[in-house]
Amino acid sequence: MGFSKDFFWGGATASNQYEGGVFEGGAGLSTADVMTNGAHKVPRQVTYRMPDGSWGKAPLCFHSSLRHLPEGAQACLVDDPDIYYPSHIASDFYHHYKEDIRLCAEEGFNCLRFSLKWSRIFPNGDDAKPNQAGIDYYRDVFKTCRDYGIEPLVTLDHYENPLSLANRFNGWDSRYLVDQFVKYATTCFDAFDGLVTYYLTFNEINCIEFAPFVTAGLIHADPQNIANATFHQFLASAKTVIAAHNYWPQLSIGMMLAAGPVYAYTCDPNDQLAALKANDSKYFYSDVQMLGFYPAYKLAEYDREGITLPILPGDLETLEEGICDFLSFSLYGSNVITTHDDSLEAGEGNGGGIGMVANPYLKTNAWGWATDPQTQRITLNELYNRYHCDLWCVESGIGWNDEFVDGTVHDDYRIDYMRANIKSMKDAVELDGIPLMGYLYWGCVDMVSNGEGEMAKRYGQIYVDADNYGQGTMKRSLKDSYHWYKKVIESNGEDLD
Ligand code: BG6
Repeated sequence: MGFSKDFFWGGATASNQYEGGVFEGGAGLSTADVMTNGAHKVPRQVTYRMPDGSWGKAPLCFHSSLRHLPEGAQACLVDDPDIYYPSHIASDFYHHYKEDIRLCAEEGFNCLRFSLKWSRIFPNGDDAKPNQAGIDYYRDVFKTCRDYGIEPLVTLDHYENPLSLANRFNGWDSRYLVDQFVKYATTCFDAFDGLVTYYLTFNEINCIEFAPFVTAGLIHADPQNIANATFHQFLASAKTVIAAHNYWPQLSIGMMLAAGPVYAYTCDPNDQLAALKANDSKYFYSDVQMLGFYPAYKLAEYDREGITLPILPGDLETLEEGICDFLSFSLYGSNVITTHDDSLEAGEGNGGGIGMVANPYLKTNAWGWATDPQTQRITLNELYNRYHCDLWCVESGIGWNDEFVDGTVHDDYRIDYMRANIKSMKDAVELDGIPLMGYLYWGCVDMVSNGEGEMAKRYGQIYVDADNYGQGTMKRSLKDSYHWYKKVIESNGEDLD
């Protein structure tokens, strides 16, 4: 028994890292559009303007613990030669979508994951009417997919929210966004009826704890604001699921978790407990979205911290009724936690965080992200045994500063990474009987990295000729991993040589 006959093989993208065309087709700005470029250990900045007209920038993104813009600041674009915003051009999918979708189809993909730029459809997030040009553009993207037999998977909110909602309401801190999101989601259900069947509500919903501006448009993010925003996103997701079940029963709506097991560094029970708690802090999000209620451990934590939830009558019933149809996840590797010796090397990249240390058994890339050959099997078992639901890996990949030589990239390191991940996933399916819907490789076409805002950290199997400042011909070329993945897909995951 291997992967199912209708297994989804493909790749994943996000509009703010891939699409570009920010000033075209009547789109409004999103929070991602005011984020500058960065680099390894150089956090991205959010630019803002003060009421007196002066401007500044603040690292309100991943890899920074700053949580507030100065009082009175409005996040906005600034016109300065030293400021560069990577989302504006990105990989210019806006003008290359027909070519990219064709190349992906020729690679054998039967699925492609996109996210929509909410502010392309509702420029301010809460406009009375949608922007028809935005809808037409996405319709053509999905129609092109269908013409090639590719199933689009659509994330409604992937690390960008309409900038206007962030500035006016402190983003998802406000309950106002709940109904605006449901209006946006249901507008999409109508507009893309017959073209899109699978949607995800919020990308990596648990990452609000690491980057509340990026994920939820929070300009001020104390723990209470984060708890409010989380609650409002849960509610918006649940209402969206309920609307789909009532009026578009052919749709399937998933949640999306940034997964990755946290291992205990030692068998000291204190380390074991630390690992359990670290895993719970991630599973809290899927507990609510897949089980329909706040788990006791989270309520106890809120109670200790003096945090209250903005619950109105009927909300808890909505959460219970609006559980998602499947659980999708991103998975790049694993983390290690300890309560021991401070002299241990700190975890880096996606293995970093408070108390996290490097795993001496694993190799990392230049950004400190480790390849863990068992991570898929462990994660799939943990998720399935907790939720007993359909699972879908919608992101997994490795970033590398690829060398482009003679029109291609010899990316054996990427092939090794994919081989290890697909093998681990296959073990979970074959040896543990886990139902898995598909595997989508992250960043199948090179795009700007989210954490660093640079092009140098490439994930793609398709190379894009663009540098960190969007300079280049944007020409697409095929890497070695493209041909390898094509062969894997042709054999439905049997041929991993
Ligand atoms: C996931 C995000 O966390 O990781 C993507 O959903 C992101 O948006 C991907 O691009 C890889 O991270 P990075 O920072 O290397 O781009």
